[in-house]
Amino acid sequence: MAKQRHPSFVCQECGAVYNRWKGKCEACGGWNSIVEETGSASPMAGPVATRPSRAKGRIFPLEGLSGETKEAPRTPSGIAELDRVTGGGFVHGSVILLGGDPGIGKSTLLMQATAALAKRGERVAYISGEEAVAQVRLRAERLGLGQAPVELASETNVEDIIATLSQGRPPALAIIDSIQTMWTETVESAPGTVTQVRGSAQALIRFAKTTGTAVILVGHVTKDGQIAGPRVVEHMVDAVVSFEGDTGHHFRILRAVKNRFGPTDEIGVFEMSDQGLREVPNPSELFLAGRDMATPGTAVFAGMEGTRPLLVEIQALVAPTSLGTPRRAVVGWDQSRLSMVLAVLEAHGGLKLGMHDVYLNVAGGLRITEPAADLAAAAALISSLSGNALPPDTVYFGEMGLSGAIRPVAQEQARLKEAAKLGFASAISPQPRLDKAKGSKNERLPLATSAIGHITDLVANIAVRRRKAS
Ligand code: TYD
Ligand code: MG
Repeated sequence: MAKQRHPSFVCQECGAVYNRWKGKCEACGGWNSIVEETGSASPMAGPVATRPSRAKGRIFPLEGLSGETKEAPRTPSGIAELDRVTGGGFVHGSVILLGGDPGIGKSTLLMQATAALAKRGERVAYISGEEAVAQVRLRAERLGLGQAPVELASETNVEDIIATLSQGRPPALAIIDSIQTMWTETVESAPGTVTQVRGSAQALIRFAKTTGTAVILVGHVTKDGQIAGPRVVEHMVDAVVSFEGDTGHHFRILRAVKNRFGPTDEIGVFEMSDQGLREVPNPSELFLAGRDMATPGTAVFAGMEGTRPLLVEIQALVAPTSLGTPRRAVVGWDQSRLSMVLAVLEAHGGLKLGMHDVYLNVAGGLRITEPAADLAAAAALISSLSGNALPPDTVYFGEMGLSGAIRPVAQEQARLKEAAKLGFASAISPQPRLDKAKGSKNERLPLATSAIGHITDLVANIAVRRRKAS
């Protein structure tokens, strides 16, 4: 393939290539994200595609589906919450993209992981393109890890990095902090452009595959939650892990977005302390700590994150609006999911919300994606609108349909068990799935449940509390 030499215009958000400048990228809808780049910018150009053409291809053996299989060899980090997310450790030769807002703690987490591995005698390298060696050392000292035998460098040239790491025993783990600061000589574009990021990532991925070193690429995230530039890298790497949380809270959630070697629904929970990130093995206790039980508008949701049950408080505020169009704001949950729940509450629950601002917040900086949170969100909203506080010892879960029907959700037992363990006395949940064949109807539930089949039952349930109270 002939290399493109003429200038091309590349969207810095998604990597789409145009032959002239545009104000808006048609591929991702980003405004002002298109920048002129010289050099090879087409997705297939660059180091991978430059193989001399051959008249005849090499014939390789084709294999069947049945045959010998092996678990991918892994190096566990020893940090349980991190290993849970990667699926049991770093797979040899795999590449992980770790995304997160600036200042969220990516460098801190990776320093702790590399130090833990180095102390166990593995060769690990930490390459920082953002901070000087002295700065990284200072952080390690603050974390009490100053003595760990991590190989440290401040470097941004990918060829130099690969040459250095290729000397001697290949490292078990190499950190590249961050991919946006790296540049490769095989690409002519300026450092920091999408083309450079892609070229650098390609070179580092090839290094990982050939040496068996697990490589972690750090990527910064833009304000709308996308990994800037490195979004074009997402499909090239084996796993994409995001580090979330808001800087005002000390909880941090590590979440696998994509994982070729493990589950994608597991989360790891950490707490940022002055000695770095501390693992949180029992997150429910932490997310419920300091909750306000007497105020209307809060409901406890019994959720699941992967295989782990997680209780979290959902807070709602419904207040008369002073604006022409009422506000709907949500933190930690899906905006369109909130709109749907509000529409169902109006259409089938008899609630009048047209003149009210609605705010919904998931406590602790957690982000919930499960549809099972519908019922808890609805309960919090009804509670806030009606001014009736919900019973503090009750958990809520269930998915809501557009008809107002409450549908059963998976892993009921695990949710109820976690709630019982934390001292909750009852649950408001969908009618249990009657699995007659297994006879699970007779299975003992760990706490008292009120089954709800329709949203009207929930509204009635909360209204009854008012009548009792008055
Ligand atoms: P950092 O790991 O540098 O974030 P990132 O690499 O994602 O940009 O973490 C920066 C923040 O973490 C900084 O605001 C200070 C805070 N921090 C602590 O609270 N405790 C600590 O022990 C450390 C090392 C950092
Ligand atoms: Mg950093």
